[in-house]
Amino acid sequence: MYADDFLAAKLQKRQQQQALRSLYVPNAPMVDFCSNDYLGIAHANLLAMAEHEGSGSTGSRLLAGNSALAEATEQIIASFHDSEASLLFNSGYDANVGLLSCVPQRGDVVLYDALAHASIRDGIQLSLAKAYSFPHNNMAQLVAKIQQVQRQPYQHLFIVTESVFSMDGDACPIEALVDICQTYGAHLIVDEAHAIGIIGKLGEGLVQAKGLHHQVFARIHTFGKACGCHGAAILGSQRLRQYLINFARSFIYSTALSPHAVSTIQASYRIFPQLHQQRTHLSQLIDHFQQANLPFQKLLSQTPIQIVVIPGNDAVKKVALRLQNAGLDVRPILSPTVPAGSERLRIVLHAFNTLTELTQLINLLQTEPV
Ligand SMILES: Cc1ncc(COP(=O)(O)O)c(C=O)c1O
Repeated sequence: MYADDFLAAKLQKRQQQQALRSLYVPNAPMVDFCSNDYLGIAHANLLAMAEHEGSGSTGSRLLAGNSALAEATEQIIASFHDSEASLLFNSGYDANVGLLSCVPQRGDVVLYDALAHASIRDGIQLSLAKAYSFPHNNMAQLVAKIQQVQRQPYQHLFIVTESVFSMDGDACPIEALVDICQTYGAHLIVDEAHAIGIIGKLGEGLVQAKGLHHQVFARIHTFGKACGCHGAAILGSQRLRQYLINFARSFIYSTALSPHAVSTIQASYRIFPQLHQQRTHLSQLIDHFQQANLPFQKLLSQTPIQIVVIPGNDAVKKVALRLQNAGLDVRPILSPTVPAGSERLRIVLHAFNTLTELTQLINLLQTEPV
């Protein structure tokens, strides 16, 4: 017997709140309205297209884990995103934690969007900088916070946001953010996890699609979503790359991605820029869903992440179950992942979803008792 009784109380509390998380494997194939494989690349057998094999990198990049392959891949990524340099990380989580824990330092201030991903918050928590959130996408409040911060001395100011928010599906006002950063001398950091592959003619991401990438301090691109594989890269200056190699602990103290994984990222960069038809079909599905009349609140979103708010963990779980029983894989997002009262279905649209499948989903939601 394990001596783990001390873990029970918090689990029971979760259970009482109808918020206990568990791992779930669908027992029959379902229509995917859930994964982040927006373009269907994860099904494209990238592994077969990978030109390098090798299941292990054998060490940290600072020891045996570096390779010509990893460095060449970083050059490909930097060149595609028109960045001076890029540095691979094992995941988006590692990239955000690595960057935000070491770049902002004691005496610095970080302002981050209130809906920023857990990896951004965890990174900020590890740093010695002071940090405050600003209300989601609220530029007037951001400016007010900056002016408040400016009443005390500080060294550097960082503003951190996402180009597409993972739990709301909306985009940040990137032009306004760049303007504000220029006005107040702040460094802008943008997590492009849900924008790569989707936003921009070639899926280059929001910042680059708007031509603002030279005004941004760092961009984080992750490969586990539209890119259909795994890993992440931080884009920025050569000096930032050198700094991260020296100070980002999630880069230094972790075994590097395997040659196969790195090669798979390269394969994805050969594929996703070309998927114009897929991006067009996806945006048609997005428009169709946005126009549907539902008996629930639907958030405005021009991205594959579509949100239907159904308050209450119990209520949202029931609707999700009904959709799952009809063969549609839609997952509920419960509190405390989102604030209580804003529990939701997170419906993810993909280039491989058909209009018929989407119509079935909309019909089921329309006949759902409120
Ligand atoms: C905005 C955002 N950043 C970072 C991550 C983490 O990326 P990864 O899944 O590669 O660790 C995610 C994924 O959940 C995300 O949604």
